[in-house]
Amino acid sequence: MRTPTRRTVLGAALAAAGTGLLAACSGSDSMKGMDHGSMNHGPTNASGTGAPTTVPAGFVSPTGPEVAAAEARRNPGPERKVALTATETTLDLGGRTVRSWAYGDRLPGQEVRATLGDTLAVTLANHLPQPTSLHWHGLALRNDMDGVPGVTQAAVKAGASFDYRFALSHPGTYWFHPHSGAQQDRGLYAPLIVEDPKEPLSYDKEWVVVLDDWVDGVDGSTPDAVLAELAKGMGGMDHSGHDMSGMPGMDTGGAAGPSRMLMGAQSPLLGGDAGDVAYPFHLVNGRLPAAPETFAAKPGDRIRIRLINAGGDTAYRVALGGHELTVTHTDGFPVERATTQALLLGMGERYDVLVTAKDGAFPLTALAEGKNATALAVLRTGGGAAPDASVRPAELDGRLLTAAQLKADASVRLPARAPDRTVALELTGGMAKADWAFNGRRYDPAQRYPVAAGERVRLEFRNSTSMWHPVHLHGHSFALGGDGPRKDTAIVLPGATLAVDFDADNPGLWMVHCHNVYHAENGMMTVLGYRA
Ligand code: C2O
Ligand code: CU
Repeated sequence: MRTPTRRTVLGAALAAAGTGLLAACSGSDSMKGMDHGSMNHGPTNASGTGAPTTVPAGFVSPTGPEVAAAEARRNPGPERKVALTATETTLDLGGRTVRSWAYGDRLPGQEVRATLGDTLAVTLANHLPQPTSLHWHGLALRNDMDGVPGVTQAAVKAGASFDYRFALSHPGTYWFHPHSGAQQDRGLYAPLIVEDPKEPLSYDKEWVVVLDDWVDGVDGSTPDAVLAELAKGMGGMDHSGHDMSGMPGMDTGGAAGPSRMLMGAQSPLLGGDAGDVAYPFHLVNGRLPAAPETFAAKPGDRIRIRLINAGGDTAYRVALGGHELTVTHTDGFPVERATTQALLLGMGERYDVLVTAKDGAFPLTALAEGKNATALAVLRTGGGAAPDASVRPAELDGRLLTAAQLKADASVRLPARAPDRTVALELTGGMAKADWAFNGRRYDPAQRYPVAAGERVRLEFRNSTSMWHPVHLHGHSFALGGDGPRKDTAIVLPGATLAVDFDADNPGLWMVHCHNVYHAENGMMTVLGYRA
């Protein structure tokens, strides 16, 4: 039995909203008492339109009994306590310091590690100047702990704190970040590793590798300024479509820093346009290539590498010079082992690989796909010169395995079943008008695409835009085709349709969105709601 806390009191307000008790009130009244972090800090994002919102009736509330019952079925075990402080700080990227926001004073934030079955109990202290929250990317957790301001909780106000508490029901590689505005594109991210007490893999060492594109605090830029610039559409570009990023005097709408709008970044792997943002830096574990992290091991060691793309607008193509990668997991879930020389990770995606270390010093290179820049870390097992900062190992241009080529491990394969419901989500909009959306409707926290508990649900993403999108579903892991891998984030190429299936076994209100933070904030988000 939980004692009543600030959270449960706020939760009660949410519960009332969720059951529609307040829906009869005028729109903005119905959200009274809730502080929508992403809804009140700028006129430019879709969630900041200030439009009245009426909470629809007839859906499970995040704090409803269905959510508590689902949590009880997870048999929450011993508590694993963690304290996190979101704060403004100075970060050393390796020869370059920047002012940014982070968890503590390090980048990435200190990894959280727990064991399957544990109850994770995280106190978030918000020392930022804005409201925030924590979203646990990829976890099938209780809905009221999912960390989406305006949907699953009230934002945690500046100076306030919040207790997250939930059972961990799947082992694997996850991460966490805020779900307010463009905060995620600052330094607010960290790995979450859920260990399996019956770990079937054997390895000597483990290396968690977090990739990120970086703009915050560089020459006056902030993710908010980038968002403001992109939200204006391409009016700020010259009409020949030239990339004017970095040109001094360029109109960035009064925002800080040079233009960061990127045009003409091309990638065959991504089906064309690779991204919207020209990042000055690309980082592995918070380090610039000139001062890379070096991971020490012995020749012959088997190393489990957990790759996480925490970027805002960059897909990374990853390879380890001189080595093949044996893929064992994606997005936390096991796959039938497959070897490859390179992998492509969209924002939010994770891959676990095993490598057997050779003798020497080897570059782990993450190519910012289509952006002609690299991030670097080093695996060192012996002597020899460190790899050059700009090295591009041949494996990057070798065999590349995509998620579609993987098969789920038999232990996590979704049993064959015809979908009970198909939710058609057409990806629409574009950079010209910054009108990213699903089915032409930009994000409204009161939107609900209904699903019902017990259904096999198919999400059909049809990409009508001229850009790729990493689509992400909260609270569930979907299957990519019949025996395809279980994932929570998947790349949809321009012009392509991707159908993914999941079992509706985790009641609540769950976001579906593009994990390009600028697309999401400009409107490419929506909510799946379990019918009450
Ligand atoms: Cu990492 Cu809503 O996502
Ligand atoms: Cu997108």
